[in-house]
Amino acid sequence: MQKNHNFKNALHNPVFNTVSKATSNLSLESYVIGGFVRDYILKRGDAKDIDIVAVGSGIDLSQEVSRLLPGKPKVSIFKNYGTAMLKTGGIELEFVGARKESYTEDSRNPAVENGTLEDDQNRRDFTINALAISLNEMTFGDLLDPFDGMQDIDDKIIRTPLDPDVTYSDDPLRMMRAIRFATQLDFTIEKKSLNAITKNADRIKIISKERIVDELHKILGSKVPSIGFSLLHKTGLLPYIMPELVALQGIDEKEGQRHKDNFWHTLEVVDNIARATDDVWLRWAALLHDIGKAPTKRFDKKIGWTFHAHEFVGSKMVYKLFKRLKMPLNEKMKFVQKMVLMSSRPIVLASEVTDSAVRRLVFDAGEHVEDLMTLCEADITTKNPKKFKKYHNNFKLVRDKIVEVEERDHVRNFQPPVSGEEIMTTFGLKPSREIGLIKDAIKEAILEGDIPNEYKAAKEFMIKKGEELGLTIAQ
Ligand code: CTP
Repeated sequence: MQKNHNFKNALHNPVFNTVSKATSNLSLESYVIGGFVRDYILKRGDAKDIDIVAVGSGIDLSQEVSRLLPGKPKVSIFKNYGTAMLKTGGIELEFVGARKESYTEDSRNPAVENGTLEDDQNRRDFTINALAISLNEMTFGDLLDPFDGMQDIDDKIIRTPLDPDVTYSDDPLRMMRAIRFATQLDFTIEKKSLNAITKNADRIKIISKERIVDELHKILGSKVPSIGFSLLHKTGLLPYIMPELVALQGIDEKEGQRHKDNFWHTLEVVDNIARATDDVWLRWAALLHDIGKAPTKRFDKKIGWTFHAHEFVGSKMVYKLFKRLKMPLNEKMKFVQKMVLMSSRPIVLASEVTDSAVRRLVFDAGEHVEDLMTLCEADITTKNPKKFKKYHNNFKLVRDKIVEVEERDHVRNFQPPVSGEEIMTTFGLKPSREIGLIKDAIKEAILEGDIPNEYKAAKEFMIKKGEELGLTIAQ
């Protein structure tokens, strides 16, 4: 049953009056629909993207709106889709004509016919996204909610207007969207819908990688990302998207020895890191930090389960995964690789914190050492409260020591205090192996704490080292 709601308050932006005026001028009908209405009701703040549906030509309406707006903003027209867009006062208005759509098996691109508002609402993904507010003069602000979307917002339910089998099969991206909204809004996907996603999971293959990754980013950017990843797993979508994660699931037992389930562990790590940082790339690192464990898993009679070099293997897998998902192969990917590669380094420090080990950690992690610590703290998922406390306390010591060591030794962006040039002129050398050996020895001595990271000490050390190598000082 539709209750009478008026949402004039949602339309306080004067641009809605302009759209209303343009609608009257052209004797059309128009409505604001989708994310703007949903987010207003959910009090998620005013969306900057506003979708306007016109019963009639969306393109004509956009041009009339532009004509009435100060400065007559440029209208971008997408003829193939029958849509138009203009930007005004920091918001983006998208115009579309109300339509009926029917989809074909192998494509997301629908055949389009003109339709009524209700036809248009029918073809939308979820009841909460099909809510429309009238921009027509006589009914300005009235809510049109033919599928009880308001009730679903109250009940926190994701439901499709039509039979979910039709909605998802029409546009399989919606399966990811359902899971993404469930994660962002902490809503439950209705049982029938969940079954339809499970049934249609393989249809995700026709969706472009870029759109899938957009949704993954939004899931990872949510407060509790594990909601999304466990739904992707439960519905059988995950094997099509990230089989590397699925391979982490399960516990093997041999000779009474078990290892932990690295899939569920990973999800805990992702939730932990989401509490500590909004950096989506660091969250990606948490998601992928253990992917090398599946291909490296071995059972050794003496030591039990091992995952030898899983960090190295994992960091190589990051590249392949990014490439397959058409994600950027840039410094963000390198950052994720570096985090995965170094993800076990601080753990060693959790039992004994020495100056030289901390110095080496800072040297290797460079500017990302704090991010690495954040990842390693998130990686502590032990259910033993004593161990939990001990590891966290030790990591706190490590963090303090990082600051202390860095103040003293400046190894974060290490620049050798004595240059190769100077080594050459001091010993009268041409480019040769010895120069590398001396440079390395200086770096090692600094990291070990044998000498401070200073020119004078390094020069003295250089001379000593050169003499050990049988070199003499040139005059
Ligand atoms: N829509 C749909 N099916 C899709 C994508 C979008 O039915 N695969 C409809 C929904 O009604 C949606 C509207 O188009 O509300 C606008 O889509 P979009 O801007 O992508 O998403 P929003 O719902 O606005 O949400 P967000 O901005 O969080 O992505």
